[in-house]
Amino acid sequence: MWTVPQARREHRVNATMSDKASKVAIVTQDTGSSRTRAGRSKAAIYESLRSELGTLITGQTDFLANISNFAALLFGSLPNLNWTGFYLLRGSDLVLGPFQGKPACSCIAMGDGVCGTAALQRAAVLVPNVHAFPGHIVCDEASQSEMVLPVFKDNRLIGVLDLDSPQLGRFDDTDREQIEALLRMLMEGTEVPEFRLAPPD
Ligand code: SME
Repeated sequence: MWTVPQARREHRVNATMSDKASKVAIVTQDTGSSRTRAGRSKAAIYESLRSELGTLITGQTDFLANISNFAALLFGSLPNLNWTGFYLLRGSDLVLGPFQGKPACSCIAMGDGVCGTAALQRAAVLVPNVHAFPGHIVCDEASQSEMVLPVFKDNRLIGVLDLDSPQLGRFDDTDREQIEALLRMLMEGTEVPEFRLAPPD
């Protein structure tokens, strides 16, 4: 029986991964980057995102790999964002996770800022004007509006996803619903280490 030598097997794995990345890149290129996608309907953008996310996570369940790609996918595909990323629960704090944008505050206490409020309430927080949100934590002065969504695995909190925009009132309920659906898809296909999960309610 002919077997693939080890080096060639590794090459085949790498080829599969880079094929996958280039498929997503091609979809992104065809439909335009965040800067050229303005003009496409939200429905079309989110439909592409579901398909691209499916491609990225198929065959990959690693937590950091998948949430890193998720942050990059959203940042590169949704218009008018200046920061997108995760804060992950550690004890009673939220610690900076994979993100795209300028370096940001590395630790936010539960209940602080928009992120800590969303985590404490286990609910989405949409802030049309960050300057009007008491306790808003400034990480990038370009941010004008913000949306923070709690992230769950099997109904247990693991952190929040934070999206910032340089545009006032950037986020609406459609964005919230669509990104919540993408997060559910992400988490269904991702294994989360036990230490990252909040204790069951
Ligand atoms: N503005 C957030 C802090 C995180 S940064 O925006 C990346 C907050 O008030 O929690």
